[in-house]
Amino acid sequence: MKSDQISIMSSSDREPSLYDQLGGDRKMSLFVDYFLDGVMSDSELACYHAKFQDSYEMELLKFKLVQFFKFKLDGQAHYIGKDMYEVHKTLGITDKLFDKACVVFTQQLRRLKPKMPVFREFIKRISDLRPCIVIPLPK
Ligand code: HEM
Repeated sequence: MKSDQISIMSSSDREPSLYDQLGGDRKMSLFVDYFLDGVMSDSELACYHAKFQDSYEMELLKFKLVQFFKFKLDGQAHYIGKDMYEVHKTLGITDKLFDKACVVFTQQLRRLKPKMPVFREFIKRISDLRPCIVIPLPK
């Protein structure tokens, strides 16, 4: 391109974000419903989420998860909630428990029938959070 030429790129020229490829807000809300149903149906995961028996707390968590996943899938530049390490550091979550949460995540994501590259990338970006979530408690 010549230096005196200006490249004008409209938003329609850009590839849609992974978030939009997954189906945007509507699909993400559905996924978060599925994911939390899966979490609350597993006795081990559910006991960590006891406070979410309260419907207001549950709605708040759903809202936060939609926002967090939107951020992880490049649908928005920031997550306004708490830092993942700060949220999880006192919970004593083990590798085994994190693996369990990832299995639920994968099973429920599959129900949305996403395209394979989006499916794989979403799972990878969540699995990569392990060091921020699995934090041994001090002895
Ligand atoms: C699979 C990866 C996980 C992701 C992406 C994730 C994400 C999140 C997010 C976004 C929040 C809300 C943070 C905020 O307040 O801004 C949260 C809170 C929480 N997470 Fe996770 N989490 C994961 C795994 C787990 C696991 C395995 C457990 C326990 C079994 C867990 C237990 C909790 C609890 C108890 C809270 C609420 C903390 C509080 O409000 O006091 N999380 N998580």
